Amino acid sequence: MKKITAIIRPEKLEELKDALNEKGVHGMTVYECMGCGSQRGWTEYYRGKPVMLNMIPKVKVELVVNNAQVDGLIDLICEVARTGEVGDGKIFVYPVEECVRIRTGERGLRAV
Ligand SMILES: Nc1ncnc2c1ncn2[C@@H]1O[C@H](COP(=O)(O)OP(=O)(O)OP(=O)(O)O)[C@@H](O)[C@H]1O
Ligand SMILES: [Mg+2]
Repeated sequence: MKKITAIIRPEKLEELKDALNEKGVHGMTVYECMGCGSQRGWTEYYRGKPVMLNMIPKVKVELVVNNAQVDGLIDLICEVARTGEVGDGKIFVYPVEECVRIRTGERGLRAV
C-alpha cells in the first residue's frame, strides 16, 4: 500500500475528485492548506511582525491505494491538475504499513 499526497490548486479539486471517482478511487482525505514551492515564501515585516507574502492557499488530497495503482494515478493527477504555470503543485508517495477498517476489523488491502 502507498499513500499518495497531491498538493494542488484549490480550483482543481472538483475535477480531480470526479476523475478519481471514475477510476474507482473513492477513499480520500482532503485538507485546505497553505504552502510555497521552489519560488519560496518571502517575509516582510508589518507592524513589527513577519508576514509571509506568498503562502498560497492549496488543497492537499491524500489517497491510500495499492502499489499497482500508483503510476496511473500520478499520471491522472498530473493530467487534471496541470495548467503549465508555476504553482501547479506536487505529488509525494509514501509507503503505508497498515490499514484497518474500524467497522469490520478488516486489515490491509481489503480494508483500503
Ligand atoms: N518540497 C516540498 N515539501 C513540501 N511541500 C511542498 C514542497 N514543494 C511544494 N510543496 C507544496 O506544494 C505547493 C505547490 O508547490 P509548487 O507547485 O509551487 O512547487 P514548485 O516546486 O515551486 O513547482 P513550480 O516551479 O511549478 O511552481 C506548495 O504551495 C506547497 O504547499
Ligand atoms: Mg512554485
